[in-house]
Amino acid sequence: MNINIMTLFPNMFSNFIEESMVGRAVKNNIISFKIYDIRDYSDDIHKHVDDEIYGGGPGMLMKAKPVYDCYKDVVSTIENKKKQKTIFLTPRGKTFDNDMAKDFATYDTLNFICAHYEGVDERAIELINPELVSIGDYVLTGGELPAMVIIDSTIRFIKGVLNNEESVNDESFMNSLLECPQYTRPEEFMGLKVPEILRSGDHKKINEYRLSEAIEITKKYRPDLYKKYKEATNE
Ligand code: 6GU
Repeated sequence: MNINIMTLFPNMFSNFIEESMVGRAVKNNIISFKIYDIRDYSDDIHKHVDDEIYGGGPGMLMKAKPVYDCYKDVVSTIENKKKQKTIFLTPRGKTFDNDMAKDFATYDTLNFICAHYEGVDERAIELINPELVSIGDYVLTGGELPAMVIIDSTIRFIKGVLNNEESVNDESFMNSLLECPQYTRPEEFMGLKVPEILRSGDHKKINEYRLSEAIEITKKYRPDLYKKYKEATNE
């Protein structure tokens, strides 16, 4: 997958694309990044990309032209047979979730437009016609963190990104259940023991135990998710 990011803060992505699972996926040539600095598409000598808002009001707005020109440049680098999607990060968008992550993972190319200031001139959005995506009901100062959140969650569904292909289906939110409590060595820590059944070697019993724990955890912490699970499983 090729990921193109359009931003005013390219440096925010440098650690993200080098470290951890994202960095590993880059090194293994499963994903690649190109970071575009929207400021490079400014047409004024001071490299301004924002201006005052028509009709008045506080703050500045990103101008349509640098964003649009940057997007055009990104698109010109993509082979037209590639399946691509452009995502614009905004609180106005549809709230990102695991199903969206799974869908995004099916694309060859994802383009992310990160806005700052009070947003972007509406005409840029109208011309580009991107998918509008939010990560939740709170306001952030820019789209960079949401882009990283979405990329991190999406690439987990690409084959070869995780060490263990099974874990993607086991984890929280798949099947609308949270993950059950898990333990590693030592067997006893500060007087607390690993549940006996997990050390029994009986995999059928272990799976039953894990499912029932997952159900209990979900009921307790996310009753809304539990309701979804019950509806899906008719239990
Ligand atoms: Cl995608 N952008 C901004 N600026 N704030 C947000 C968001 C996005 N999602 C939640 N809050």
